[in-house]
Amino acid sequence: MSDINRAQILDILASINDPVSHKNLVAADMISGLAIKDSMVQFSIEIGDPSRADQMEPIRKQAEEAVRNLPGVISVTAILTAERAAQKKPAQPQPQKKETGTGAAEIRHIIAVASGKGGVGKSTTAVNLALALKSLGLAVGMMDADVFGPSQPRMMGISGRPASDDGKTLEPMENFGVKSMSMGFLVAEDQPVVWRGPMVMGALQQMLNDVNWGPLDVLVVDMPPGTGDAQLSMSQNVPLAGAVIVSTPQDIALLDARKGLNMFKKVDVPVLGLIENMSYFLCPKCGEQSDIFGHGGARDEAERIGADFLGEIPLHMDIRTTSDGGNPIVVSDPESAHAKAYMAIAEKVWGKLSSGEGQPAGPKISFS
Ligand SMILES: Nc1ncnc2c1ncn2[C@@H]1O[C@H](COP(=O)(O)OP(=O)(O)O)[C@@H](O)[C@H]1O
Ligand SMILES: [Mg+2]
Repeated sequence: MSDINRAQILDILASINDPVSHKNLVAADMISGLAIKDSMVQFSIEIGDPSRADQMEPIRKQAEEAVRNLPGVISVTAILTAERAAQKKPAQPQPQKKETGTGAAEIRHIIAVASGKGGVGKSTTAVNLALALKSLGLAVGMMDADVFGPSQPRMMGISGRPASDDGKTLEPMENFGVKSMSMGFLVAEDQPVVWRGPMVMGALQQMLNDVNWGPLDVLVVDMPPGTGDAQLSMSQNVPLAGAVIVSTPQDIALLDARKGLNMFKKVDVPVLGLIENMSYFLCPKCGEQSDIFGHGGARDEAERIGADFLGEIPLHMDIRTTSDGGNPIVVSDPESAHAKAYMAIAEKVWGKLSSGEGQPAGPKISFS
């Protein structure tokens, strides 16, 4: 495999023009912080004025795409920054180092709920898992890392905007005793002051570090779908204790779940196990079970690759209506079989976390 070098990356970025100066991004001196680690590339595009963010977002995407197409590149994270503009204005008070927010300092375990692709029920599973962990008596938070398609406000039944006492840090929102933070709480108004930049990767970091999470036993992170840059970057920058992979039987068959597993393996995040969602169809009328997609694939797949199988959740209308209606089944019908399935998974996950299995320093699951 060819090694990627800076010159190749700058060459390709020099083929993209800044719509304002009409110079290319390199000639306009807009590229900074270029870092290459293994096959992963990161850089910033300096936009000067933060109000240009919307205009520059397509350019950022184009730049990411162009670099991603270079041979040997696995992932690319480009962020828009307006740092130099801030530095050029010495008359303005420099932002203080944040000392007020508790950030992630008091979070014991951060776990990612991920999937190979979208629509497999990752958010539904993440929410019910978080609520099930809460019902074990744990202090739980949820972070919606799906910044482009946030679903936590709807599923957690939370609306409104987070408060900020100091203009620098945000108070998490809360429902059912679970703290929650999502871009969905912030996107309604165009430029919330507390968010330093409009950028996605920055947003993930800020959701973790600039939110007063307080002491938590577990923070459940609902990851964006897929195995792309956001996930990789998240797992590199955030001290993840482990990942839970959600997949449907079809997804297993199509090997999408395997991609998710491999991604975490690549960045040394232990995989706590697999959950099979929409595993089988439970007829709401007669209670009969139908294995529409050929149920049980996740258990076999987990076994084959040496990951744990955490449990299966049926495809059932009640699961959809409750989570889509902001009253997930674990809280709306805790005695139901579905809620109990989530509870059993939560117990397994907590068992692993509390025994240190998910700790970065602990034993890692490796896949051959
Ligand atoms: N086990 C299930 N039974 C029935 N519907 C489900 C189940 N899991 C998820 N859904 C529904 O499928 C849709 C997609 O789920 P969602 O959690 O948003 O997926 P993702 O986050 O992976 O994109 C939602 O409408 C959700 O209510
Ligand atoms: Mg989702």
